[in-house]
Amino acid sequence: MKEEGAMTRTYAIPVAGWDSPFCPETRQVALQALEQGQVLYFPSLAFPLAQVERRFLSPAILGRAKNVSYNPATKAVAGTVCQGQDAEELKGLLGRYADAADRLCRRLFPFYGSALERERTSLRPAVIEGRRTSWRKDDTRLHVDSFPSQPVRGRRILRLFCNVNPQGRARTWRVGEPFSEMAKRFWPRLTPSRWLRRKLLCWLRVTHGLRSEYDHYMLQLHDAMKKSAYYQRSVSQQTIDFPAGTAWACFTDQVSHAALAGQHQLEQTFTLPVEAMQDRSTAPLAFLEKLAGRPLAA
Ligand SMILES: [Fe+2]
Repeated sequence: MKEEGAMTRTYAIPVAGWDSPFCPETRQVALQALEQGQVLYFPSLAFPLAQVERRFLSPAILGRAKNVSYNPATKAVAGTVCQGQDAEELKGLLGRYADAADRLCRRLFPFYGSALERERTSLRPAVIEGRRTSWRKDDTRLHVDSFPSQPVRGRRILRLFCNVNPQGRARTWRVGEPFSEMAKRFWPRLTPSRWLRRKLLCWLRVTHGLRSEYDHYMLQLHDAMKKSAYYQRSVSQQTIDFPAGTAWACFTDQVSHAALAGQHQLEQTFTLPVEAMQDRSTAPLAFLEKLAGRPLAA
């Protein structure tokens, strides 16, 4: 790992396999580190692919999407040109990763219990560098995750990533300043949300459900961070290489992150109600409500 500055944004957990046990001390320290906004790093957690599955490590399987996504609830796979037997085998790979990620997170964070909800799984076989996109969709810029069509109303977004690059290529991230500092910096520039506009977006089905004030401000923070070239350049940050055969997890709604380089990654998303956290005061919702002086999640 390359470090810029004294502060490290990662906490290493040297677990040997996806089904290895965690001792109570490890679980407690990992939970605290996660909620405080650190990236949990698993240096020996390769996800094995069968030889025949390696054919899916190619951007040729993508349609126009930047990743293949799998919905464990409906068992539907999207974003790929694979059909028939190929699609079934691809689904099998994503389903196996979803199951492994789910087991690992439930063993590492038993505190969250059934409140931790399994969401979509993705495979990202495209090279990050050189992708031409708008600044808003450019994930090589530091940002916190917030999705225009998917309001979360304060729910946390937890993601578990695994680098499955067969050539041993690292995935490179930049990790920025703590959420509280970022939010304080940009808050004065954010515009208030209009209830009627949020209601209209919902009626027109632009959003899945009503966008809360929390979602409105999170989207604005996401955009403000990405839009400012000065911020991207000057903010305190650390560059981290995640080698092939490693995994890492964080609350991506809290951790300022940017994916700079790499190819071939598996990712599992979970969501969590703020009420299920050990320390709710570390949630982005808590910081934003403090700045706004009122509840924002409704
Ligand atoms: Fe992101």
